[in-house]
Amino acid sequence: MHALITGVTGQDGAYLSALLLGEGYQVTGTSPRRSSDNSNLRRLMEVGALENHKFKYDTMDVTCASSVDAMITSQHFDVIYNLAAQSYVAESFVSPLATTQINYNGVLNLLESIKKFSRETRFYQASTSEMFGLVDCEAQNEDTKFHPRSPYGVAKCAAHYAVQNYREAYGMYACSGILFNHESPHRGIEFVTRKITDGVAKIVSKQRMDISLGTLDSQRDWGHARDYVRGMHMMMTQDRPEDFVIATGVTHSVRDVLEIAFSHVGLDYRDYVEQDARYMRPSDVPILCGDPSKARSKLGWEPTVDFEDMIKEMVDFDLFRHNVDPLKYFLTGGSADAAANR
Ligand code: NAP
Ligand code: GDD
Repeated sequence: MHALITGVTGQDGAYLSALLLGEGYQVTGTSPRRSSDNSNLRRLMEVGALENHKFKYDTMDVTCASSVDAMITSQHFDVIYNLAAQSYVAESFVSPLATTQINYNGVLNLLESIKKFSRETRFYQASTSEMFGLVDCEAQNEDTKFHPRSPYGVAKCAAHYAVQNYREAYGMYACSGILFNHESPHRGIEFVTRKITDGVAKIVSKQRMDISLGTLDSQRDWGHARDYVRGMHMMMTQDRPEDFVIATGVTHSVRDVLEIAFSHVGLDYRDYVEQDARYMRPSDVPILCGDPSKARSKLGWEPTVDFEDMIKEMVDFDLFRHNVDPLKYFLTGGSADAAANR
C-alpha cells in the first residue's frame, strides 16, 4: 500500500508516517518548499521516518493545482491523508485569505485531482473541533451544528462540506476526521500546551522569568497525537467512508495545563504567568468537549494517554531539550545546575 501524506512535516505528519511505516506502507510525505536548511524535517527525523527506506520526502504546495496534479499522476497512491494546513487559529485572523487558500482551496485541488486522475484513491481530510466553535451542547458529535469562530474554522467548515459533496456526487471514498485538540512533545511551539511546557523548561533552566498568555479560562478536550493518528488510519480502512469525531470526552482549562506543568517541577504557576492582551483573539472558542461514541463503537478506537501524563511527558521532553536531565533534576531536589544535561 502506498500513502501520500500532505503536511508531513507537522506534528501529525510525523506520527502518522511512523504509524503507516510500522504497518508496512510505502509513504510519500510532502510539504511546501522552505529554506534549504532542512530544519522542517526535524520531527520526521525524531520519529525515525527519514531513515526508513520506505519513506520518501518531496515538496508540494496544496495551493498549486498543477503541482498537486503532477504529484497525483506521477505514481499510484492507495490513500491520501491531507494534513496540510495553516493550522494556527490566531494567525488566521491576521491572514484570512492565505489561510483559506491552504485550508479550503488546497482541499479542492486535491479532491479535483483525485476525481480526474485517480478516483479509487481514498482521501482523508483533517477536519477539526474548531468548526463547532460556539457550542450550545455539552458534548459535540458528528451531528452537532457548526458555529466557527475564526477564519481558520470557517475555511475548515467549507473544506468539510466539500469532502461530503465529493463523496455524495462522485462516489469517492472521501472522509473527514473531526479531531479535537491533540498534543505531544512534537506539538508546534505556538500552541498553548507546548508554549507552557517549553516556558516551564526555560524558567527551570533560567533562560526566562515568566510566560505571557492570553485567556486562562479556555477549555479544550485535549488528547495525545499518537492516539489520534491511529483514529485517522482506522477511518481509512473501513468498508464505507464516514466522518468520525475523535476526542477523549474530558475537558480541561488552560489553568489546568499550567497547574500540572508547573507543579511537575515544584513551582506555582501564579508566580510566573502574566496575561497579555496580544494573545487574546477577536473571537475565541470558550469550551469544547467531544463525544467519541461513534469512533468507539464503529472503529473500536479508544484514547490511551491520560491528560496529566501527556503534559508531564511534554515538560520532560522540553527540560531535556533545554539541557536539563529531568531524572537528575528530580533526584537533586529541583536543582537545574546539578541536573545540567551537558
Ligand atoms: P501542523 O503541525 O501545523 O502541520 C501543518 C503542516 O501543513 C506542515 O507540514 C506545514 O508545512 C504544512 N503546510 C502549510 N502550508 C502548506 C501548503 N500550502 N501546502 C502544503 N502543506 C502546507 O499541524 P498538525 O497539528 O500536525 O495538524 C495536522 C492537520 O490536522 C492540520 O490540517 C490541522 O488543521 C488539523 N487539525 C489539527 C488538530 C490538532 O489539535 N493538532 C486538531 C484538529 C485538526 P511546514 O512545516 O513547512 O509549515
Ligand atoms: N496559542 C495560544 N497562545 N493560545 C492561548 C494562549 C497563548 O498564549 N493563551 C491562551 N490561549 C488559549 C487560546 O485563546 C485558545 O482558547 C486555547 O488557549 C487553545 O489555543 P491553541 O493551543 O492555539 O489551540 P486552538 O484550540 O486554538 O487550535 C488548535 O486546536 C484545533 C482543534 O480544536 C489547533 O491545533 C487547530 O489547528 C485545531 O484545529
